[in-house]
Amino acid sequence: MKTENRGNFSSKIGVILATVGTAVGLGNVWRFPYIVGENGGGAFLVIYILSLLLLGIPGVIAEFIVGRHSHANAVDSFKKLAPKTKWHWIGYSGVLAGFLIMGYYAVVVGWTLEYLTQAILGNLSGMSVEQYGQVFDQFAGHPYWPLVWMVIVMLISTFVVARGVSGGIEKISNVLMPVFFLIILVMVANSFFLPAAGQGMKYLFLPNFSELEPVAILIAIGQTFFSLSLGMGCLITYSSYFKKDVSLAKTATQVVSIDAMVAILSAMIIFPAVFSFGMQPTEGPSLVFKVLPNVFQQMPLGTLWSILFYALLFIAAITSLISLLEVVTAYIYENTSLTRRKAAFIVTGMVSVLGVFASMSFGLLQDVTLFGKTFFDLLDFVTASILLPVGGFFISIFVGWFLDKRIIATELRIKHPKAHLFIKGYIYMLRFFVPACIFAVFLYSLLG
Ligand code: PHE
Repeated sequence: MKTENRGNFSSKIGVILATVGTAVGLGNVWRFPYIVGENGGGAFLVIYILSLLLLGIPGVIAEFIVGRHSHANAVDSFKKLAPKTKWHWIGYSGVLAGFLIMGYYAVVVGWTLEYLTQAILGNLSGMSVEQYGQVFDQFAGHPYWPLVWMVIVMLISTFVVARGVSGGIEKISNVLMPVFFLIILVMVANSFFLPAAGQGMKYLFLPNFSELEPVAILIAIGQTFFSLSLGMGCLITYSSYFKKDVSLAKTATQVVSIDAMVAILSAMIIFPAVFSFGMQPTEGPSLVFKVLPNVFQQMPLGTLWSILFYALLFIAAITSLISLLEVVTAYIYENTSLTRRKAAFIVTGMVSVLGVFASMSFGLLQDVTLFGKTFFDLLDFVTASILLPVGGFFISIFVGWFLDKRIIATELRIKHPKAHLFIKGYIYMLRFFVPACIFAVFLYSLLG
């Protein structure tokens, strides 16, 4: 195992920006608005925030404890903390999840780059609603264009990961995340001036619990995991690069708050826009690709807004893709004699093969299904609905029941006089509450 010279995030702001970089992604800008749209607006938001507080924060802290204490990748961290046991299988499942998520995530990141390019070229205007739908279907089903973009985004990620933790990941996050926040704030400010701003905000912020179905609770929990990059060792890997002086509880709370804020701000951009131009927010996954271009073209300075929006989506997505690549690369790099660069290249090659099949799910292979799902949908289902919750379940059990409480206390180092009460409460959450909730989601995904 190569453990010498693993690298560290060099500053506290670097820690926050890199961790926010993995958490904030397609999950916030693309997935969150459309599931809020499908699940009745404000009431769903309330449930989601509860889930972030009660499951998200404890879960993130648990991964941080494992990562920072062991200073190792997703697999070796468990080998160090629980030698000669089978706990490191959680890590294998995480590395596998990372690999499988990349298989479809990279395809969607490729789409964002295509849309950004088309927006810059001024080609995203002057079409009818149906035409925008057709343009998307034709592009996504094209035999090689989506693949070219996918390979490009994987190579960008490889380049960053090959440069290491502080020279690659931290540096790019320090540049891209502030740009991201700038764009999102400009776009939210613009939202307030749209004709249906009030209607959009009401839809998002006024809860109407009579429209909430019980499954929404489970969907909210699933979204919590996906959006926080939780349950697959991604946060273990990142926190293994945290220095001793980083406060884990504080960082977790900050990252979860920022992640929630970005999801809400994205919805604040999308709903007023969609309502203002006579569209519906219930469009599903194609909302941002099929519906939004039509909304933007009706706005003053439409081309500018579409360039900004797809740049926003691309930045969010590429920093998450980089973190996925880092999880798998760190494991391979630290267990072989390969360099970081070679390890990252090999992973990119393997992911690209997976991506070919995922992308063809919109073209040649669109009628080939397993359990009623295309290959693309299957990758999404197996990871987001099975591997992440199962991973989260076992990490919670591991930290709650197995890990020495002194390790938890040392890592949390909370100076408050009532700290022991906090730690006690925290361990109870990990032992009972978190696993019970995850178990419920898991049962639902399998039976539903
Ligand atoms: N959290 C990322 C998003 O919201 C997705 C992700 C999941 C990234 C798991 C890494 C690990 O898009």
